[in-house]
Amino acid sequence: MENRKKLGFIGYGNIGKLIINNILSLNLFDFKNIIVSNRNLNKLNLLIEKYPDITVTSDNKFLAMESDIIFIFIGTEDVKNLLEEIKPYLNENTYLIHSVAALSFQMISKIYNGKVSQVIPSMASKSESDLEKLTYLKRLNDLDEILELNRKKHGVSLISHNELVEEENKEFLEDLFSSFSDIKVLGRENLENERNMEVATILSSCGPALISIFIKNLVKLSNSYCNLEKEELENILIKTVKSTATQLDENNQTIDEIIRNTATKGGITQVGLDYIQNNNFVIDTMLKELFKTYDEKITILNKQYGL
Ligand SMILES: NC(=O)c1ccc[n+]([C@@H]2O[C@H](COP(=O)([O-])OP(=O)(O)OC[C@H]3O[C@@H](n4cnc5c(N)ncnc54)[C@H](OP(=O)(O)O)[C@@H]3O)[C@@H](O)[C@H]2O)c1
Repeated sequence: MENRKKLGFIGYGNIGKLIINNILSLNLFDFKNIIVSNRNLNKLNLLIEKYPDITVTSDNKFLAMESDIIFIFIGTEDVKNLLEEIKPYLNENTYLIHSVAALSFQMISKIYNGKVSQVIPSMASKSESDLEKLTYLKRLNDLDEILELNRKKHGVSLISHNELVEEENKEFLEDLFSSFSDIKVLGRENLENERNMEVATILSSCGPALISIFIKNLVKLSNSYCNLEKEELENILIKTVKSTATQLDENNQTIDEIIRNTATKGGITQVGLDYIQNNNFVIDTMLKELFKTYDEKITILNKQYGL
């Protein structure tokens, strides 16, 4: 039933582009019922070329007036102005879904008192190359390969709902995001401890960047001790990270099993493991820095929203 509703998407930046393309590629909705808005309309040129039946605009009031469900993928600092701008055009049934970390339901309720869900997606979700492959397979009408590709889920989307969100809305959002990512729904009991959402966000949403910088630094430093090409080292490490993740996620190996099997007695792996273990404080310091930044952001936002 939600599939016949009008969907509006505001913000076509890093995450908006990824999620909007993931959603449109599912072919679940009538493209005539889709409106996408971005401040700079030029960013939407390729999208409208690919999906000529959708509507693109930079007029959020028009989008709000026309949409039953509105997804917001814009930066934290822009959300308050946007909510104030579109509020007169929302009705009691409008369902807002936003991807903004640190923005609480309480803050939003200062401006809009209706159904709101938060979904924190991950850049690790289905990539543009997957989507290009899907378009190609659709052209070939290769149903088996399409099914296989669609079965692949990437990244974890964190979802939470305010108390006004109805069961059919929850089902819609959770089904939609689980079509291309794994989902973790955080219920009211999980949200009582505000660090729960923050920790989950750090792992799922900051995770791709944190893992990437670890890879980058390990490659860069290793490269300074040898004369193999940086690209070769990067390739070795990325393939190793990928197969380790597969062993853990799909082959039911545990982290401790992999550590045990890799660190042969008297071998060099154990030296590295011991070093990392003894210097865990670096990761702990990073986490504390992230929490400090979260707390500062929340203080600024609380002030902004009059809380
Ligand atoms: N990046 C991630 O991995 C990630 C993961 C989870 C959650 N998030 C959250 O998602 C949100 C967006 O992040 P991002 O990385 O995608 O940021 P981004 O790349 O800066 O994209 C924001 C987009 O929103 C557009 N925009 C801003 N204000 C607008 C308005 N009033 N009306 C229409 N469009 C507007 C911007 O347009 P212009 O380009 O024209 O300025 C830009 O295209 C943030 O709140 C972030 O915390 C991000």
